Formats: sequence, structure tokens, C-alpha cells
Amino acid sequence: MRGKFISLEGGEGSGKTTAIHFIRQWLDDHNIPYIMTREPGGTPLAEEIRQLILSPREEVVNDTTELLLVFAARAQHLAEKIQPALDKGTWVISDRFLDSSYVYQGKARGGDIAMLDQLASWVVGDNKPNATLVLDVSVELGQERVVQRQHQDRLDKESLAFHQKVRDGFLERAKADPERVKIVDASQSLESVKIQIEKELSQLHKTWVGDC
Ligand SMILES: Nc1ncnc2c1ncn2[C@@H]1O[C@H](COP(=O)(O)OP(=O)(O)OP(=O)(O)O)[C@@H](O)[C@H]1O
Ligand SMILES: [Mg+2]
Repeated sequence: MRGKFISLEGGEGSGKTTAIHFIRQWLDDHNIPYIMTREPGGTPLAEEIRQLILSPREEVVNDTTELLLVFAARAQHLAEKIQPALDKGTWVISDRFLDSSYVYQGKARGGDIAMLDQLASWVVGDNKPNATLVLDVSVELGQERVVQRQHQDRLDKESLAFHQKVRDGFLERAKADPERVKIVDASQSLESVKIQIEKELSQLHKTWVGDC
């Protein structure tokens, strides 16, 4: 019985990390074994690569360099953490995963989608998430929510136009693959977001219970 793999996606301040707590509670209530993880990162080496990707720096980061660093971290994350957990029947919940690459390095940075497809096929293969929840908020509301943060990373500092492309990118991913990618209206209250997430999880669980 392979575990199920769920990713959380959305722009800065959309509420992904907050939503993780709601998911944790739901999984505990249903006695489902799970691990929580995040990207870029998730293992010591991948977290070091995360620092390389996100630290603000003087030097211009080449788009291809950024893309390859993200996939290098992902290869490590999959081999050392995600695959072993899924193989044991443990569910994996990841704060960001492959869709973020298509949206940030593809849509927002204008990266070559055919190249992304090749990397995805090479590095991720069949280990794609079984389901993805996209936390959707306007760019303005997302920015308002994170404005109090003291440390802004290199991607937080991007322009509003960049963040708008990120939002559009996630909505396009959902439209292209509605079976897997579900949109959560994250502009609502935390209580409403929690209810939406629980509803999605219950539906997924019902669909999967036959094959898990
Ligand atoms: N639905 C909501 N209503 C009000 N505040 C919210 C809501 N969702 C999240 N917040 C608040 O907004 C802030 C950002 O949320 P969170 O850190 O979960 O976003 P994130 O998507 O993980 O952001 P990042 O991409 O920067 O990691 C937090 O202070 C959180 O408490
Ligand atoms: Mg977060």
C-alpha cells in the first residue's frame, strides 16, 4: 500500500504553511501516518540548496542555474525522503513541489516548458503528487499578509507583475489538470479555508480508499 502524495501550492502569503496545520489535524483525526515536508528543501542537503536559491545576493542568478538548483534539491528530496516514505505507506504532504517549478521558473521567468517537462520526467518520473491544493489569493492580499515579515527572500522581492504571473500560472495548472489540482479560495477566513481543505481531503480519501 503506497502512501498518497499531496502538495500545497500558491503564491507568497497565500496560506500554504498555515494550511499544513489543518491537514495535519485532519490526518491525525483519521489515523493516517504521514510526514510533512517542503520545497525547496526537505533534507539537510536540499535545505542547503534552498539557501543558495532563496538568499538575496548581489550576483544575478541565471534562470537556468535557478532551475537546475531547484531540481537538484528535488532529486535529493525524492530519493532520501519522499520515495522511502511513500514506499512504507506513509502519506507525504509537501509545502510546494513540481507545480512551483512550472509556475516560477516556467511561467513567471519565461523558462522553456519542454525543458521543464524533460527535467520533470527525469527527476520526478512517476512520483508526481496524487493531489495538489492551490491556495489562491490576489497578489495584493498575499503581499499584505507577508508584509510584516522581517526577512524577505529573493523571490519575495520580485515585482508585482512577477507575482501576478505566479498566481495566473497556478490557476492555469489547475485548469489544465482539474482532476489532480484543486483550488482553495484562500481569501476567505481561516475557518473557511480549513473547511474547504477538509472537504477536499474527505473527497480524496473517498476516491483513494479503494486503492490504498
Ligand atoms: N485565510 C487567512 N486569513 C487571514 N490570515 C491568513 C490566512 N491565511 C494565512 N494568513 C496569515 O497570512 C500570513 C501568511 O500565511 P502563510 O505563512 O501560511 O503563507 P505561505 O503561503 O506559507 O507564504 P510563503 O509562500 O511566503 O511561505 C500568516 O501570518 C498567516 O497567519
Ligand atoms: Mg510558507
